[in-house]
Amino acid sequence: MVDPFGRTIRYLRVSVTDRCDLRCFYCMSEDMTFLPKKDLLTLEELDRLCSAFIAKGVRKIRLTGGEPLVRRNVMSLVRSLSRHLGSGALDELTLTTNGSQLARYAAELRDCGVRRVNVSLDTLDAQKFRAITRWGDLDKVLAGIEAARDAGLAVKINAVALKNMNEEEIPSLMEWAHGKGMALTLIEVMPMGDIGEGRIDQYVPLSLLRARLAQHYTLTDLDDNTGGPARYVSVTETGGKLGFITPMTHNFCESCNRVRITCTGTLHTCLGHEDASDLRKPLRASADNDLLSAAIDRAIGLKPKGHDFIIDRRHNRPSVSRHMSVTGG
Ligand code: GTP
Ligand code: 5AD
Ligand code: SF4
Repeated sequence: MVDPFGRTIRYLRVSVTDRCDLRCFYCMSEDMTFLPKKDLLTLEELDRLCSAFIAKGVRKIRLTGGEPLVRRNVMSLVRSLSRHLGSGALDELTLTTNGSQLARYAAELRDCGVRRVNVSLDTLDAQKFRAITRWGDLDKVLAGIEAARDAGLAVKINAVALKNMNEEEIPSLMEWAHGKGMALTLIEVMPMGDIGEGRIDQYVPLSLLRARLAQHYTLTDLDDNTGGPARYVSVTETGGKLGFITPMTHNFCESCNRVRITCTGTLHTCLGHEDASDLRKPLRASADNDLLSAAIDRAIGLKPKGHDFIIDRRHNRPSVSRHMSVTGG
């Protein structure tokens, strides 16, 4: 699958549910309405969709949400997709999770061929964690991270940089992660979905945080590539890896290799655009994948060059109406 800008699509992100057991204030409004369960693709249908993408060249699949591990029976999907690892058709099957259910699933994930997971964690302060997630229990996430490590999974921590919330804590979050041999990736907040407030008071450019870190640490650019959007540096003093995901200050769209599907079978070829193609209809229209494959090709042929995210005082509304929890990043 090659888009009009010559980018080959090898990475599929699959939001298996829009629901989450937390409500991070920058991600969802307090009174989120979730999709009716009847609109969801079954896990068998999601498997068929993923397999169709693999047949068309996808080599990496990441399950996201919402929180992927709150979807009932999600492990049956993971187990079934793992056959593509066994056959060599897929290089990586992985997840981005808030960690709250990891203690329960870590060993089984490892059994299914998952080798690493990305855990979203913005603070190590229990009170702040509660303020960010609205009711989350930090200890549960920390226990999930330990369980994942005990099960032999590599863990990468994702933290959204939040003005006046965790920006001061980034060095200690990094020391903690690197002390455990985990990479830390910082993310700039993106104006996705109506969250009942503007973004300008949340947003902190990572260029600023990087400059602050560079006063105390030696940061050396790496050209490691996980196929994701992060740019990494090594930190001499901690011996760890630090990633920066900077959609706002340094656009990485020119090397975009990914598309995402939602739990209702909608294909979004760009996180930062309203573009959407329905794959549910062609999926359900026939048992063979001809219609589906043609619909995927049409959508890839329309993949935009890059996102349209803007955060400023005059433009204090979402650039994209859907929430991150619908497309999972
Ligand atoms: P690795 O495989 O570890 O490189 O992970 P990844 O960065 O591909 O996945 P992860 O779920 O950890 O992504 C972290 C965050 O990066 C997501 O939650 C999004 O916020 C952001 N992100 C991922 N892909 C895109 C993209 O195509 N565009 C933009 N703007 N942000 C993205
Ligand atoms: N901007 C940037 N990152 C976000 N996330 C959720 N909403 C946003 C947003 N508006 C992050 C979560 C998690 C990942 C799936 O996306 O914290 O790390
Ligand atoms: Fe849930 Fe992740 Fe959104 Fe937080 S950021 S509410 S953990 S989906």
